[in-house]
Parts: sequence; C-alpha cells; structure tokens
Amino acid sequence: MLLTREEMSFDFGGAKLDPVRDKELIGWMLNQFLYGEMTGIQVGHWLYDAPDVNAAKFLARQSLEEMQHVDNFLRMMTMMGVQPAPAHWAVRFLSTGMMGGSWAEHVALEMAQGEGFVLMAFYGVIDTLDHKPSVDILKRAVKQEERHVEFGERETAKAIAGKAWLRRRLLGLSLVSMWGVRKLAGFMDKRLNKTASGAPHPVMKHLPAFLALSNQCAETRLRRIGVLDRPLAELGGFKRFLLVAEAYGGKALGGLLSLVTAPLRLLPFWPKKKRLTDVYLADPHVAGYTLAAGEPDTSDA
Ligand SMILES: [Fe+2]
Ligand SMILES: [Fe+2]
Repeated sequence: MLLTREEMSFDFGGAKLDPVRDKELIGWMLNQFLYGEMTGIQVGHWLYDAPDVNAAKFLARQSLEEMQHVDNFLRMMTMMGVQPAPAHWAVRFLSTGMMGGSWAEHVALEMAQGEGFVLMAFYGVIDTLDHKPSVDILKRAVKQEERHVEFGERETAKAIAGKAWLRRRLLGLSLVSMWGVRKLAGFMDKRLNKTASGAPHPVMKHLPAFLALSNQCAETRLRRIGVLDRPLAELGGFKRFLLVAEAYGGKALGGLLSLVTAPLRLLPFWPKKKRLTDVYLADPHVAGYTLAAGEPDTSDA
C-alpha cells in the first residue's frame, strides 16, 4: 500500500468501545460494515470487465473474500447479540451510488479510495473494540482489505498514465466521496456521540479528528497515486466545483446514452432485477444466521 498502517492509525488515547455499554453503537457500526461487504457482489461486474488475466484472478479471489467478510460480520453480530438492520443512506451512496462507470473509476473510487476509508475504520475498530474474538476476526480481514486497496492504487496509477482528463475526472469524483464521508461522520457525531449519562462518548468524541485524518490519508493516497499533483488546500472552492462538474459532466454523457436504451427497459419482459444489496436483510442466510458464537474463523488471512 502507498500508506502504512501507522499513517492510517488514529490515536484514541486508549479509549474503548464496550460491547455491553455501547451495544447500540456497535450494532449500528457493524450494520454499515455488513452492507459494505455485501456490495462485494459488485466485484462480479468488474470481473467481466477485467483488463488482463492477473486482474481477473485478483477479482475472482476478492469476491470470495468479500463474501467471507459478510459472514465475519454476521458472526460478530451473533457474538455481540445485535441484529442485522439497514445501512445509513450515505453508506449506500458511497458503496453503491458511487459505483464506478468504468474500470478506472472502479479501481480509483471503490478500491483505492472507498476500501481505503473502510480500512481506516477497521483499524479504528481494532484499536478500540473491547471484544477479542471480534478483533481477531478483523485483524485477519484487514490483511485482505489492504491487498484490495493496494490493487486499486496500482491499477489507478496504470489507468491515468498519460491521461490528464481521466486524472481530473477521478479527482472530481474523489471530492464527492470525501463529501459523502463527511456527511456520514456528521450523522455519527450528532446521533451516536453520547453515553447514557449524556456525556460525550469516550471513543466517538474523537470522531471529528478521526475524520480529518481519514480525509488527509485519502488526499495523501491521491497524491502518491498521481491523481492529485498539489495539496488540496491549494485548489480553491471554485476549482473544486469545476472538477466535480467536469466529472459529472462526463457521467451525464453516459447517462444520455443510456436514455436511448431506456424505452427497452419499459418492455414487460425486460428484467428488473433487485440486487442482493437491496434484499440481503430478508435473505435466509442473513435473517436466519445461526453460526454458533465463538466458532473459529477459517477464512484465509
Ligand atoms: Fe471486505
Ligand atoms: Fe475489500
């Protein structure tokens, strides 16, 4: 990876998440992760679009790992007695709404940037959650997530070589995903930063500083990949607006093309398929998850 574990680690000063006191908060967090892992089904889309054999092999393995991560979170939820529940809209937007429209967008936005954000959150949970069986599961999973981020970084660098327009588009879309992360953090700060006594939560009170570090790491990653050639602070608000407008302008063109095919979708036989990310909570595997608490995790580390 282009960033080290140390660079991506936040110092919570020894504060801990207590599985009993913080059950509601932990349940909320696990449900966001559960949704994120379920979006691993989107890897299948990109496997079909892989540019070379090594990329295809990587994605085939990644899809299996993400489905194992789904079970990891279900196992953790079972152990801590929390129920599967819907994810926050910003999480759905970041992991499904921001789904790339091209290979370059996928590896840059979903893998380098998106999984980079998730990795930081995993590190944060590993460093604070006072529940060893869950932390052990997460420690194995982060090794796989680190490989996913690394692949995203490498493939993004390859994709933008000699393409200034693509670099600008990826930067514009990255700014949107940073905005989404700020929205999510705003919700968490407002709704989840309280203990039963009303005092600020010992871990969640660090959220604004944790978010600042997350966005700083995202910026550093963009610079090391080569998407960003100067500090973000040197880009004024108007320049950022132009980058976002340009990125979505490109997308709008693609949207216009899909309008041409839209009437076909109105035909009665045109399949309107709900994805697993829409219906997973009702799936028997999730709804009836009964894996015994403490069952050893056998996923590849
Ligand atoms: Fe995962
Ligand atoms: Fe991943």
